[in-house]
Amino acid sequence: MGEPVNVGVVGCGAISAQYFRTIERLPQVRLVAVADLDLDRAREAVRPYPGTDVLSVAELMADPRVDVVLNLTVPAAHAEVALQAIAAGKDVYCEKPLAANVADAARVLQAAGEAGVRVGCAPDTVLGTGTQTARKAIDDGLIGRPVAATATMMTPGHERWHPNPDFYYAPGGGPLLDMGPYYVTCLVTLLGPVATVVGAAGRTRAKRTIGSGPRQGEEIPVSVDTHVTGVLVHASGALSTLVMSFDGVATRSPNIEVHGEKGSLVVPDPNHFDGAVLASVLGEEGWRELPAAAGYVEAGRGVGLADLASTGLHAARGAEPRAGGSLAFHVLDVMESLLDAARSGTAVTIASTCERPPPVALRSLAGGLDGLP
Ligand SMILES: NC(=O)c1ccc[n+]([C@@H]2O[C@H](COP(=O)([O-])OP(=O)(O)OC[C@H]3O[C@@H](n4cnc5c(N)ncnc54)[C@H](O)[C@@H]3O)[C@@H](O)[C@H]2O)c1
Repeated sequence: MGEPVNVGVVGCGAISAQYFRTIERLPQVRLVAVADLDLDRAREAVRPYPGTDVLSVAELMADPRVDVVLNLTVPAAHAEVALQAIAAGKDVYCEKPLAANVADAARVLQAAGEAGVRVGCAPDTVLGTGTQTARKAIDDGLIGRPVAATATMMTPGHERWHPNPDFYYAPGGGPLLDMGPYYVTCLVTLLGPVATVVGAAGRTRAKRTIGSGPRQGEEIPVSVDTHVTGVLVHASGALSTLVMSFDGVATRSPNIEVHGEKGSLVVPDPNHFDGAVLASVLGEEGWRELPAAAGYVEAGRGVGLADLASTGLHAARGAEPRAGGSLAFHVLDVMESLLDAARSGTAVTIASTCERPPPVALRSLAGGLDGLP
């Protein structure tokens, strides 16, 4: 393996600590600098990582050491920050969703294509043993031809625990754009791209109350739908039924189930890297747990960034990363189309498509990444 790829992080909020911990474990990437609109927050975030420079966003973009910009800002800023990185000639890896809307995401991919740099995007949880083991079971034919899936995410809302939850209720947020990327990316990984969607959506209240931190008790406005349901018609013909909600208290439904002609699978939480995959196969009694058979073992947020780094810097030299821009674009297109379908009450054809990313063989992170062909 050559020199590690140098990472500059823009946005040092709640999620950044998880990335810093993973980057520390991965030999392919090295944290060199961070930036945030709030420089004190950036300084605090990298206190455990002495030697990391704290810069303004403009300084970080201009820093010749930075190969890849890791964009951990709020969804409304994803496109703007990504475009700055691309204009500076750097690869960019974004938190999800790729942008707050499809039009902005298209501008990001077009600019990256023209600049010859690559775009990666969360979620990378689907590269862990949970989704990858389920995918291998499907690809190996354990459940026969997949015909349907269900995906359910039900919580009372992130304002209960996040100290600055405004973005969850602003455009680019809501249960679908916030949590949907995990579920839709998992469904596309398992069942392939989506061709058509139908949907319905609602919202229970115009305001939410912050439940923790210095702003506890403050009310914030809700400008997005907070309960979204729909059916994704995959190009393969499989039908996925989706329920994404910030309006329910709890659920006992599995996060994801996939049903095939010969068997059914319970797929673990796609917001986590691992978890038990259960199978019930025609002719066998009950459910059995499948041993982890594919994916990165004990992975953490940032493994998708290392995957991008390990496949070579810049478009001319590297393949599309697994947690790649075209997959993230398709997932965002599916989600935005689902909201359009809910508004119009008609089926919406998905204009984009993508390849299923190459599978990940079972391996520990310590053993290195699973290089793409
Ligand atoms: N919090 C979580 O548990 C979690 C989990 C998974 C993914 N994410 C995703 O991570 C992203 C960030 O979430 P978070 O919870 O860390 O949010 P946050 O509000 O805690 O942090 C975002 C940070 O970005 C900074 N920022 C915003 N716009 C900026 C700009 N233009 N330039 C520089 N800095 C800017 C803010 O000052 C803030 O410090 C979101 O896309 C979210 O969907 C969050």
